[in-house]
Amino acid sequence: MDSIAQQLMRNRVFSQVYEHLWRPVFTRLFSLGGTDTADFDRALTAYLSRPGDRLVLDVACGPGNYTRRIATGLTGDGRCIGIDHSPAMLARAADAAGDRVAYLRADAHALPFRDNTFDTVTCLAALYLIPNPLPVVDELLRVTRPGGEVVIFTSVQTDLTSVPGIRELAGASGYRIFDRHEIVERLNAAGAAHVEQTITGQGQYVIGVKPG
Ligand SMILES: C[S@@+](CC[C@H](N)C(=O)[O-])C[C@H]1O[C@@H](n2cnc3c(N)ncnc32)[C@H](O)[C@@H]1O
Repeated sequence: MDSIAQQLMRNRVFSQVYEHLWRPVFTRLFSLGGTDTADFDRALTAYLSRPGDRLVLDVACGPGNYTRRIATGLTGDGRCIGIDHSPAMLARAADAAGDRVAYLRADAHALPFRDNTFDTVTCLAALYLIPNPLPVVDELLRVTRPGGEVVIFTSVQTDLTSVPGIRELAGASGYRIFDRHEIVERLNAAGAAHVEQTITGQGQYVIGVKPG
């Protein structure tokens, strides 16, 4: 049976309030006990939307909040493709679709793309909801071209979430809290290089490069 979190992601009303209501609050919550996640998020968005003729894949794109922003910097044949498995989220994304953006319904566990396709592959605020997330990390790297980058934002175990019961409670709702080194180790094991982790309170940003 689907978790509460997964059911929420498929809910039409939730998909409509996600971008402007839920996501900003959730981003702030990720700052608890650490640095301002919203600041890091702005810097990351600016980095991802830097000018360039790139092919970008935004995995678990939700209503396309990052997909659209990433696409604003693209030039030439550059495109940003968002994939998600929630029809409600994709409908919302399609309503606001911009230039150089395309959406596809797909499961992050089995990305419908060839190996070595994308310059950048993002998976933001989603791995913690995905039932079998570590093979998804491998998938992100598989579809990244040599020299390209994988960018992940997800949860991380901290002193706060080490309080007995918290992790179990989160898990019961479908929200997984990753061990501190779990994502980094998985990316390294899948063959990524230069893997960097930045922890901002309750969240972690992990960026890795696929060796060329
Ligand atoms: C919290 S939203 C994140 C949206 C956006 N990436 C962001 O950073 O705001 C998580 C998204 O992951 C999607 N998702 C969850 N499991 C998925 C899976 N197995 N395959 C594709 N998308 C999935 C949900 O439908 C939801 O739209």
